[in-house]
Amino acid sequence: MKFFVDTANLDDIRELAATGLLDGVTTNPSLIKKAGGDFLETIAEICRIVDGPVSAETVATDHETMLAEGHKLAGIAENVTIKVPLTMDGLKTCKVLTGEGTKVNVTLCFSANQALLAAKAGASFISPFVGRHDDVSQDGMAMVEDIRTIYDNYDFETEILVASVRHPLHVLEAALMGADVVTVPPEVIRKLVNHPLTDKGLDAFLKDWADTGQSIL
Ligand code: G3P
Repeated sequence: MKFFVDTANLDDIRELAATGLLDGVTTNPSLIKKAGGDFLETIAEICRIVDGPVSAETVATDHETMLAEGHKLAGIAENVTIKVPLTMDGLKTCKVLTGEGTKVNVTLCFSANQALLAAKAGASFISPFVGRHDDVSQDGMAMVEDIRTIYDNYDFETEILVASVRHPLHVLEAALMGADVVTVPPEVIRKLVNHPLTDKGLDAFLKDWADTGQSIL
């Protein structure tokens, strides 16, 4: 399973890229607002840091303007993936951009039927928002499971990019279900690393090592 980080914060992206964990980055208008920088410059800088797909989201709601935005964003770097919303205009834009060889991430997906449409429109990625489903008492991961079944039934190549991830269990379940990608906020990635028994074990090893009086270097 590929790991993307869901942020526009350049410091977080640089730190995580250095671990070798990062296969790509996803951003959205809310994350751009939170990071505070210029949108186009931020995307360009992220593309310099990370080799993998970097999702940059369009903000127009009509097909023509969305397509123009997609063309402009795709011109920033070769690894830009264009994010479009799961609307009729978004699907039309997806079809055109995909036909031109640009990767498209169809976002704001809240049903397996929507995911089926995105695959038929040629999307490279579909982004089911699991956390926002959970927020309204629906089972976000059950939606991912349905999408996995549908895509496998028809050999769709669209990658399932699990989004709106809120905690480590979302990541675990995504991996168990065979999701292709999970996009994870930096704070959740750090939670995946930490385990109290790792800390406890490390403390014990370091104490015993100090008792030997030896040094490696
Ligand atoms: O990038 C889209 C998605 O990951 C948003 O997550 O936490 O705002 O629902 P969230």
